Amino acid sequence: MLSVIIMAAGKGTRMKSNLPKVLHKISGKEMLFYSINEAKKLSNNINVVVYHQKEKVIETMEKYFDDVEFITQDHENFPGTGGAVKCCNPKNEKVFILNGDMPLVTSEELQKFNKIDADIVMSVIKLDNPNGYGRVVIKNDKVTKIIEQKDANEEELKIKFVNAGVYLIKKEILDEFLPKLNNNNSQKEYYLTDIIDLANKAGKTIKAIEVKEEDFKGVNSKFDLANAEIIHQNRIKEKWMRKGVIMHLPQTIFIEDDVEFIGECEIESGCVFKGKSVIKESYIKANTIIEDAEIENSEIGPMARIRPASKIIDSKIGNFVEIKKSTLNDVKAGHLSYLGDAQIESGTNIGAGTITCNYDGINKYKTKIGKNVFIGSDSQLVAPIVIEDDVMIAAGSTITKDVKKGDLAISRTPQKSVKGFFYKFFKKDK
Ligand code: UD1
Ligand code: MG
Repeated sequence: MLSVIIMAAGKGTRMKSNLPKVLHKISGKEMLFYSINEAKKLSNNINVVVYHQKEKVIETMEKYFDDVEFITQDHENFPGTGGAVKCCNPKNEKVFILNGDMPLVTSEELQKFNKIDADIVMSVIKLDNPNGYGRVVIKNDKVTKIIEQKDANEEELKIKFVNAGVYLIKKEILDEFLPKLNNNNSQKEYYLTDIIDLANKAGKTIKAIEVKEEDFKGVNSKFDLANAEIIHQNRIKEKWMRKGVIMHLPQTIFIEDDVEFIGECEIESGCVFKGKSVIKESYIKANTIIEDAEIENSEIGPMARIRPASKIIDSKIGNFVEIKKSTLNDVKAGHLSYLGDAQIESGTNIGAGTITCNYDGINKYKTKIGKNVFIGSDSQLVAPIVIEDDVMIAAGSTITKDVKKGDLAISRTPQKSVKGFFYKFFKKDK
């Protein structure tokens, strides 16, 4: 049986942010979510070490998980990754230790550590540019110690093997060596990485497993965050393409972790899919944004914006149409409209520039539009309002009263013509 310790107490100074580092998001979810989620596939004893803004970290993670233990680091007396592990009391004989800033690690990769028999299994990455990571000193094929970048001399800085930041350590080794860590280093911190040197000198077995940066990348800055997100996005998009989604220029498409595609969907370039959106058998044209919405058997965009709690079925939505908290079933809304808090039924056509005026500055109101309705261009429907089936609304109307089945509603100032006004005004001859 395994225990897992995830270190998430650090301040994340290099992130230059008021938000705790581990709460920065990639693909719509906090980095720490991904570490915990993968760890849970391996163990039911998950210990997350917190300190900086711990209330915020705990509150955010408790929205996803109810069986994770949060442990507060004694950061005043024992700062550093060694201090973080010191305050935990894992239940099992083998302990996985993960940094909370590694959102790309998967349970499949972690399983490989468990297949190796040693007192300590640690991970190394070979990098041409090892900048930012701890360097791993390997002598005669044996890992002897880890030197943090800030403490490394010129020779050590040239080492291309770096510490990826994941370790599988026997609990007895932690019990023996954690009390022996000191903070005699440039950062005056207790480094977990010093345990390697101590264990090596005591004749313990340390084995290194070589891993890829794309799985074990540590995120310390906003630049790292952006690069980690690119890798994560590529995984998400590859998954959906393999399941049958067509993507044009996938590198320009952004899809959050919880979005789901069903059946054969086609997505043009520049589209953004957020939240728990579900897209079924639909064609999404260029630069469309869909957030927490359900789309089924429809054509959306280009340049449409579908906002939360919208449900669009068998419909055609064109450019510059914004839809919020509305249900459209077999509807056409081709151009330049805002449809909010609306329910629109089968066979209805929404003319260009139609606006549901759903907000009076205090409250939001509903618009109901029945079947086979024709809303003329540039109409305003002032909610709350009900437009019954088989209605026509004349173009340019401001509709403030309900319209009964089969009627035409028109509200315009009558047009008048002033003969020859142009020539008079500009003092020109005909
Ligand atoms: C750490 C490793 C380094 C490795 C790198 C891989 C140490 C001393 N160094 O460096 O060898 O190459 O990860 O990404 O371990 N944390 C705490 N409490 C603290 C300090 C940090 O919980 O007092 C947490 C942080 O929130 C973070 C993780 O530990 O999730 C790693 O801390 P960070 O400061 O990012 O360490 P690195 O400098 O990246
Ligand atoms: Mg780090």
